[in-house]
Amino acid sequence: MGTMNTRPLFLATLLGIWMVPTAPAAEPSAQQVQSGKTAFVPCASCHQVGRSARAAFGPQLNALFGRRAGSTTDYRYSAAMKRSGIVWTEQTLAAYIRDPQAVVPGTSMRFVSYGYSDRKIADLLAYLRTYQAAGLSAPAPAPPASGR
Ligand code: HEC
Repeated sequence: MGTMNTRPLFLATLLGIWMVPTAPAAEPSAQQVQSGKTAFVPCASCHQVGRSARAAFGPQLNALFGRRAGSTTDYRYSAAMKRSGIVWTEQTLAAYIRDPQAVVPGTSMRFVSYGYSDRKIADLLAYLRTYQAAGLSAPAPAPPASGR
């Protein structure tokens, strides 16, 4: 790592080009996003996304990736969610969607994801990522000063 010549990467970044094949989070296909939208339909009875999203029966889900669990300011979370210490990533989201109570014991989200295959969850997350990419934000408190 330390001895790698980073100059080409640096130049590519300057030019806004990023063609390294192992770059994370490859652009999802339109078809994947479309089936993710379908997979989100049951979630949408409790969760909003998009420009006018706000807290409903569940918290809104804009800007979800990298967000601390239980951190939007217009929603009253369970104590379990607030103290979970989770940061939402592909992995933590997939696990939570699969089995909310196993990941956050005592969470107030009641959702049984029978029929949500790995594929379906990946599509769903690709769909949610489009709201991240659109730069839509979530109501969030100022970042903590340091530690807890
Ligand atoms: C019956 C209503 C309901 C359904 C359906 C539902 N949720 Fe939730 N969800 C909730 C509630 C309520 C919470 C708040 C949990 C808490 O505070 O413990 C929540 C929390 C979450 C969170 C944590 C957000 C944060 O701000 O930390 C995520 C992520 C989430 N849900 C995703 C989903 C996805 C994806 C689906 C569909 C696969 C889904 N939910 C289906 C009610 C629901």
